[in-house]
Amino acid sequence: MSEALCRLDDIPDPGGKSFILEQDGKPLKVLVIRQGARVFGWVNSCPHIHRPLNWGDTPFLDLFKTSIVCANHFALFEMDSGLCTRGPCIGKKLAPFPVRVVDGAVWRV
Ligand code: FES
Repeated sequence: MSEALCRLDDIPDPGGKSFILEQDGKPLKVLVIRQGARVFGWVNSCPHIHRPLNWGDTPFLDLFKTSIVCANHFALFEMDSGLCTRGPCIGKKLAPFPVRVVDGAVWRV
């Protein structure tokens, strides 16, 4: 299912934006991470205890803006692979949510 989520410029660079979509009649929380012209989509559920990575408007990236950070217990994840490199779920990955940029908009693939 293709669906426009937002304009690329609506996402901080680098940074992230969360969305609540619908899949099979159920809410699906996702996040899109932007790094320049590249975007990476992930299901917004930490593999530690399956809570969303953010609390409200908390930023998705660490202070250095090089990793995704979980606001619950501060696990760090690679932006492009979703691999946890530090924290209680080290070695696990975020579930992918495929997205792409077309004509300046971010699309669900
Ligand atoms: S819920 Fe993400 S590190 Fe614990």
